[in-house]
Amino acid sequence: MKKVSVSFTLNGDLVTAEVPPNWTLLKTLREYFELTGAKEGCGVGECGACTVIVDGDAINSCIYPILEVEGKSVTTIEGVASKDGALHPLQKAFLENNGVQCGFCTSGMIMSSKALLDHNPDPTEDEIRASIAGNLCRCTGYVQIVESIKNAAEMIKQEK
Ligand code: FES
Ligand code: FES
Repeated sequence: MKKVSVSFTLNGDLVTAEVPPNWTLLKTLREYFELTGAKEGCGVGECGACTVIVDGDAINSCIYPILEVEGKSVTTIEGVASKDGALHPLQKAFLENNGVQCGFCTSGMIMSSKALLDHNPDPTEDEIRASIAGNLCRCTGYVQIVESIKNAAEMIKQEK
């Protein structure tokens, strides 16, 4: 299939992908850019393992056409830590509160909750639960994950 050229910002850098026009953002991230943090679980927009942030909103990259990404800003789990390697409060909090078990859902959980905290730094528990309603975890149960997000919100407040 003839390839198309799509330019966008990826984790702060301007990039261009030359990919078939029927590729999704997830396929492009994993196979063209070799960023494998976003996972393919269901592949049909149901599990949230593929969540990344596009122009500030958490989206399921497995059903997001690459052609729609032109000119937009994409953040993946690989772009969440600082350039010097310091972990984001969400990453620290998931580690410290046992929010991670097998890790398959974790990048999606972190991207959904990052989109929440970027817009709403002081969310209620209901708002936290709503933000990850599209993210399925088969391991930890959700208590530790919700605690991790609450703890991250506190860390971010204290940093300010
Ligand atoms: S892999 Fe995208 S929602 Fe499941
Ligand atoms: S930690 Fe295994 S699916 Fe969530």
